[in-house]
Amino acid sequence: MKHLVSMEDLSLEEIEALLDRADEFKRGAKSDMSEEQFIVNMFFEPSTRTHYSFEVAERKLGLQVVSFDAGESSVTKGETLYDTVLTMQALGVQAAVIRHPDEKFYEKLADLEIAVISGGDGCGEHPSQCLLDLFTIREQFGSFKGLKIAIAGDILHSRVANSNMKVLKRLGAEIFFAGPKEWFGEEALLYGRYLTTDEAAEIADVIMLLRVQHERHQNGSNGFEKKDYHEKYGLTEQRAAKMKQEAIIMHPSPVNRDVEIASTLVESEKSRIVAQMTNGVFVRMAILEAVMNENRKGAEKHVSN
Ligand code: CP
Repeated sequence: MKHLVSMEDLSLEEIEALLDRADEFKRGAKSDMSEEQFIVNMFFEPSTRTHYSFEVAERKLGLQVVSFDAGESSVTKGETLYDTVLTMQALGVQAAVIRHPDEKFYEKLADLEIAVISGGDGCGEHPSQCLLDLFTIREQFGSFKGLKIAIAGDILHSRVANSNMKVLKRLGAEIFFAGPKEWFGEEALLYGRYLTTDEAAEIADVIMLLRVQHERHQNGSNGFEKKDYHEKYGLTEQRAAKMKQEAIIMHPSPVNRDVEIASTLVESEKSRIVAQMTNGVFVRMAILEAVMNENRKGAEKHVSN
């Protein structure tokens, strides 16, 4: 795995291998990445979980982490993404974790040697979040086949939904959607059925809630009322009470309490929201190890030629 920018690039075998390796890391396995390798985390959009869990994973693996702050960098003087990443490559940095508001930003970097791991591209994809979601589901149920997974909320603008619906269908899960119709694209119907939030909560083994992505609403979210949204589309205590006994609640976070989910449910018995964050470190260790090892092999081949 030279890069990780889209779940579409991974076979089901590669996905299972990454989840297996993440599981080993969770059980205390150590990596033998002894050679000095540099990595930079370049976030052009705000992040807490993705940024800092990559950083924890990098440090656990013994990588040299180069600090980068877009607001303090020469990006503010007009330097392009390509030239900024080219600079990191010229400094000897082997890999960059990048979050950027442009969909498929990584296509602009295709001519560079540096390994690129996407931390999210606009409304495109969020592959590392997707993998940690898969890990959390597999940890609970053992496999994906036949599981009923409901993705509820602002589906149209969610890169998490976009990555998850496609890969979960490939893995044999049955997908359902719920949320406001105006934030639901027809393309999603290729992967699953649309239900009311009440139906989704009752039928699902996993209900995956999404934050309303106000920052991606081109015409603004005028008239949006938190309480109204919660009652119509959120996981209320009443809806949660109708969930199956063994069903779980997930959310990629950040959570807007009492909007997409009742505050009392965030750390409830059914919730795996905190577990998702914890699992993110182990999954990102597996991603980083796979990318850095491939990168090192490529460099060795280059030298021996
Ligand atoms: N889930 C997620 O991507 O969270 P952050 O935006 O905090 O990284």
